[in-house]
Amino acid sequence: MSTDVTDLAAVRVGRVREIATAHLGLRGPLIPILHAVQEDLGHIDQADVPVIADVLNLSAAEVHGVVTFYRDFRRAPGGRATVRICQAEACQAVGAEALGEHARRRLGVDFGGSTSDGAVTLDEVFCLGNCALGPAVQVDGRLHGRVTPARLDALLGEVAR
Ligand code: FES
Repeated sequence: MSTDVTDLAAVRVGRVREIATAHLGLRGPLIPILHAVQEDLGHIDQADVPVIADVLNLSAAEVHGVVTFYRDFRRAPGGRATVRICQAEACQAVGAEALGEHARRRLGVDFGGSTSDGAVTLDEVFCLGNCALGPAVQVDGRLHGRVTPARLDALLGEVAR
């Protein structure tokens, strides 16, 4: 069992190193590397930080600082479904803040968190390009407009299994 875990960790380190190396030619490669790692492996693990730092010849603290500064980067595995609630101005004007609060209460997690059963990750987002139909919510990439708390409950009921 522990051998499996060790093997998986080694595979991940190898993959992170491969991704980081592939972006070395870019100017300012750190952000693109972090996006690519997240895209490929689901999140930026704490163990990925020294690997990326080594490839870029940066300190782990520098990489860690960037990972923690940007909300885009997830530092733990996400849930099976992702629910993103727009919190930008136009949606705020029609109740997005209360909707976000409702979602946090209902799921028992803050923005950026995942439910303990791994079913749902809740995220805030700043504009989904659906401003005329706020509050806007995206569930696994699918956009929904004029989402009321009751509608959100129904959407969550479909994914929170
Ligand atoms: S402000 Fe919410 S979709 Fe644009």
